Amino acid sequence: MILAALTFFGGKGVAAFYFPGADPAPDLTVAGTPEQVARGEYLVNLSCIGCHGAVDSQGNPSEAQPLSGGWNIAVAEGFGFVGDMHTENLTPGGKLAEYTDGELFRALRFGYTRDGQLLGFMSLLGYSQLSDADTEAIIAYLRSLPAATTAGPTGDRLNFVGAVMFGAGMFGEPLPASASVSAPPEGVTAEYGKYVATYGDRRGCHGPDATGTPASSLGPAIPNPRPLVSAMTQEQFIEMMRSGVRPGNSPFPETMPWQNAARMTENDLAALYAYLIAPVK
Ligand code: HEC
Repeated sequence: MILAALTFFGGKGVAAFYFPGADPAPDLTVAGTPEQVARGEYLVNLSCIGCHGAVDSQGNPSEAQPLSGGWNIAVAEGFGFVGDMHTENLTPGGKLAEYTDGELFRALRFGYTRDGQLLGFMSLLGYSQLSDADTEAIIAYLRSLPAATTAGPTGDRLNFVGAVMFGAGMFGEPLPASASVSAPPEGVTAEYGKYVATYGDRRGCHGPDATGTPASSLGPAIPNPRPLVSAMTQEQFIEMMRSGVRPGNSPFPETMPWQNAARMTENDLAALYAYLIAPVK
């Protein structure tokens, strides 16, 4: 039984990683208007930069421009036994220059490389929930960046163990994705706040419902922010997110990247507050 399961899931994982299986990329061209570039800049600098920012001399993410990537997230987070997972160079100096806009759209929405191979880490993040407009804005911004080079390797080099574990869903399952997504109306509502969390939670740390994540093969447990936030007013929440200091004068731990969240607009933070104090659906 176990052997059969292992063979099946192993086969599924290996197939997804080594044999292209994606639907064709949509045929689209992003106009790259100044509005799109500005929106993309906002989104990318809240989210993608956490993993795709340049690495420092120790190979740790600087969370800063240029978006040249190269961080080995599998080794850094203690699951190097699956192989290597280096973040990609997102500037036109990297692989993305070979992507069409449609292929890049498909990578963000469905988690596939240009060749239609499943992306390990990316397919598990919440970017499939971003609207078509925001996905296109991200593409517009990435295309507008100056080309930067990465000194080390980029991309996935999963071994057999890694492929089997991914195939078996041991790292989680991708969220359902559809060909067309629109954002809820912008406003200080829990619904819009949930949308803000798709790009505001910079590394997808707090889980799909922002209730925290248990310790797993991907890393240590991440706390549920909801009880703390529910005990605060909106003003106190916004103040905390802008200053990095929790009530009782206790700063966020190093692991909480509040500096990025501090750059959010007032409306986005207020919506995030509304989402975090609302009952989990
Ligand atoms: C939690 C860390 C993390 C975040 C946040 C993240 N990425 Fe990635 N990304 C990775 C890793 C790791 C890879 C290497 C392939 C893999 O494992 O998915 C990758 C690969 C990619 C690739 C694939 C290129 C290729 O052909 O191999 C693209 C495109 C990409 N990321 C775009 C983005 C964009 C745009 C954002 C923000 C909206 C983003 N990523 C946010 C970790 C991250």
